[in-house]
Amino acid sequence: MANTNEPGKEQKRPARRLFGRQKGHALSSYRERLMADRLPMLRVPFETLTPESIAPALFDDECRAVWLEIGFGGGEHLVWQAQANPSVGLIGCEPFLNGVARVLGEIDRHNLKNIRLHNDDARQVIDWLPENQIDRCFILFPDPWPKKRHAKRRLVTQDFLTDLARVMKPGAEFRFATDIADYVRTGLHAILSCGHFDWPAETAADWRVRPADWPATRYEAKADREGRQRYYFSFVRKG
Ligand SMILES: C[S@@+](CC[C@H](N)C(=O)[O-])C[C@H]1O[C@@H](n2cnc3c(N)ncnc32)[C@H](O)[C@@H]1O
Repeated sequence: MANTNEPGKEQKRPARRLFGRQKGHALSSYRERLMADRLPMLRVPFETLTPESIAPALFDDECRAVWLEIGFGGGEHLVWQAQANPSVGLIGCEPFLNGVARVLGEIDRHNLKNIRLHNDDARQVIDWLPENQIDRCFILFPDPWPKKRHAKRRLVTQDFLTDLARVMKPGAEFRFATDIADYVRTGLHAILSCGHFDWPAETAADWRVRPADWPATRYEAKADREGRQRYYFSFVRKG
């Protein structure tokens, strides 16, 4: 993902696009204005900033931990966590503009100070982050790519997890949810065989029951309505 055309820089694999549409219905004029005025102030400035530590670079003095949500969709979970944890700085990544605009509206409405946004591929932020920065990471119902020929577009792969593990602190939590049985299979295989995460689950309830500090998302509600089992996994970055 990084710009790797400079001489002497390690050449990374070309990026495969992992997400679908970036824009849905037309934005209201209020949301258009938020996108024009507020987003530039809240975007993670990774093109211009190269910090050694991101908490002081992105958040205020109260920030005691940094959490990363990848693919926040409509942002229900991101906004809930920001309200419930005012001393945590949250970085939300989402290329779908209507979701970004919705979150900007929520930030405005609740006067939230602890959210920064990246309105594109989360892998750009991960490639930019210094190591050992993230205290918790959420990937909730990533695009399922359920057809066999599309499965290679799934986000949770060993290569991706190795990049993610680099930026997570030892002991940091990684929460992953899906409603696709085959994603459970390929995701668990990648997470447990990449060598960077422990899985402290003891009983089936640990992945079948959503914890109280994990609010339901819009996509999850759809999966529920359509009768699909949801799986909620929690892993720990090895020390
Ligand atoms: C199925 S939706 C789930 C959204 C939300 N997490 C929820 O549970 O309602 C998956 C989201 O991940 C986003 N996404 C896919 N690939 C991404 C990437 N590489 N970086 C950031 N977001 C991504 C998509 O745009 C989409 O909004």
